[in-house]
Amino acid sequence: MKKTKLVVAGVGHVGSYVLANAMKLGLFSEIAVLDKKKGVAFGEALDWRHATALTYMPNTSVKAGDYSECADADVIICAAGPSVLPSEKDEMPDRAGLARTNAAVVREVMAGITKYTKEAVIIFITNPLDTIVYIAENEFGYSKGRIFGTGTMLDSARLRQLVAENYSIDPKSVTGYMMGEHGFTAFPVFSRLNVQGFREKELDSVFKGKEPLDREAFRQKVVKTAFDVLNGKGWTNAGVAEAAVTLAKAVMLDEKSIYPVSATLHGQYGYNGDVALSIPSVIGRNGIEQQLEIELDEQETSWLHESAKSIQNTMASVKT
Ligand code: LAC
Repeated sequence: MKKTKLVVAGVGHVGSYVLANAMKLGLFSEIAVLDKKKGVAFGEALDWRHATALTYMPNTSVKAGDYSECADADVIICAAGPSVLPSEKDEMPDRAGLARTNAAVVREVMAGITKYTKEAVIIFITNPLDTIVYIAENEFGYSKGRIFGTGTMLDSARLRQLVAENYSIDPKSVTGYMMGEHGFTAFPVFSRLNVQGFREKELDSVFKGKEPLDREAFRQKVVKTAFDVLNGKGWTNAGVAEAAVTLAKAVMLDEKSIYPVSATLHGQYGYNGDVALSIPSVIGRNGIEQQLEIELDEQETSWLHESAKSIQNTMASVKT
């Protein structure tokens, strides 16, 4: 029987949470962790090997390795590179510097991976996410659909949590998502947001909200809440690691789940190979099996183009 194998590339704050979630999920018979800091990879693997002796822990074979571990990997989750570069100037992180740093990281990682495979499904977390995905997808001759990024899946969870908090309801009762760039210009598709069928315009009358559901206000809240985590603990990891492992599960179980994830567009919204951003996509054994071009209203369409432009500006700054 074929073993199921995950490779986690980069086991810093984010990758170590990915490893933890993947170990507890018990979906993979084998997990290999790679990191430039060999001691960290070794320590993380050994720590979790000890945990396999405890109740409820699956007996997953977990080890530290190098890129050769990718040869028989089903899924590779890449969290390599710094998640934020503190800027010398003000409290806003140095995004351009992060893009330059992590563009080099993703090129190194993809060179390592493609020495051994072009079939594994690769899920990126590394920021600036959309630019990183675009580089990985378009510079290494990888199979279409088998590389994507967590994208606005985390931003969407934040949106649902904020809407739920506003109405004191369960976030899992809120259906809705963000599209576009992971980060500053991500936008909520409010025209489709609903709470068990109650639409955007009905929510303020049906539920007692702390404040009216203003589109721009909530769009800003989602961006701000990410910085609240970052400024609070210095990084973010729990939410995005959960998103990445949820996507890995959808791949491994061929779930055909639909999530807003980042990949290069091929004709959707007028973009054809010239930008990667998040739109609702069907996730199964082959990675992204279909990208869905949902109809947006005028404001959402304008937000989408603003988002694409922001990503293309970042992409231009790291072009080789
Ligand atoms: C965040 C990081 C993963 O939004 O970009 O938390």
